[in-house]
Amino acid sequence: IYALFKQADLVVISTPVFFYGFPAQLKALVDRSQALWSRRYKLGLRDPKSPWRKGVVLAVGATKGERLFLGIELSSKYFFDAIGAHFEGVIGAKGFDRPREVLGDEDFMYRLRQRAKELLFPLTRRKKVLFVCKHNACRSQMAQAFLEFYGGDRFEALSAGDDPWKEIHPMTFQLMAEKGLDLYFRKPKHIEDILEDAPFDLVVSMGCEVSCPMVPGKRFVQWDLEDPIGKPIEVGREVRDLIEKKVKELLEGV
Ligand SMILES: Cc1cc2nc3c(=O)[nH]c(=O)nc-3n(C[C@H](O)[C@H](O)[C@H](O)COP(=O)(O)O)c2cc1C
Repeated sequence: IYALFKQADLVVISTPVFFYGFPAQLKALVDRSQALWSRRYKLGLRDPKSPWRKGVVLAVGATKGERLFLGIELSSKYFFDAIGAHFEGVIGAKGFDRPREVLGDEDFMYRLRQRAKELLFPLTRRKKVLFVCKHNACRSQMAQAFLEFYGGDRFEALSAGDDPWKEIHPMTFQLMAEKGLDLYFRKPKHIEDILEDAPFDLVVSMGCEVSCPMVPGKRFVQWDLEDPIGKPIEVGREVRDLIEKKVKELLEGV
């Protein structure tokens, strides 16, 4: 589930109110987000998507007290902070105790639809950028993370490889940790696994050794970056900094 949180742009908790808080099963999940809290606050690492990720709660309770959602609000605020999401508040329905009863409340359902539109519309308008390298274990992972971090509100960044490794190369974690960014819980992906996200507005191939895959894209560019895997960390740092510069240029429309 940590990996799913990390991929998400929007996290929605849907819950009943039990004794002014979350049900035990959900509370267990919330409590285990301490692992992500530690990566943020003990290790000082930020999730690349955290500047833009949002979290929202749908909550239903049987009573109508003014403070019905107070406990859930407080827990949610700190839970979303732990997973690197901005808490957008509780959308609460009061006075519902029977299955599907809430669906008959037109006011609530209208409010819900409006809120869903507000939260989802900006996400659907983002441009999609795919970074491709051979193993999706270093360069394209770094490029994806930088674009997410600096421009996740305007761009949806993805990465893949035509011969993906099982894990991201350990040097990649270190290189990005030096920039304060956490790539833990991410895995290399095969190009075929991201085709459901096609077509892409831009496909960036990271090096000339990448056999340019048949990916539906509007624009293709080649960055011709050296593959730092197997080379000294200094080479990795140079490549990382170059990727960061190129991503910033991309954001400035260069
Ligand atoms: C164990 C338990 C605790 C509950 N505690 C509260 C509560 O503190 N305040 C409240 O308004 N409703 C409380 N309820 C009622 C539920 O919030 C309500 O029935 C809700 O509609 C259930 O939603 P669900 O069908 O999605 O589980 C409680 C229900 C249960 C079973």
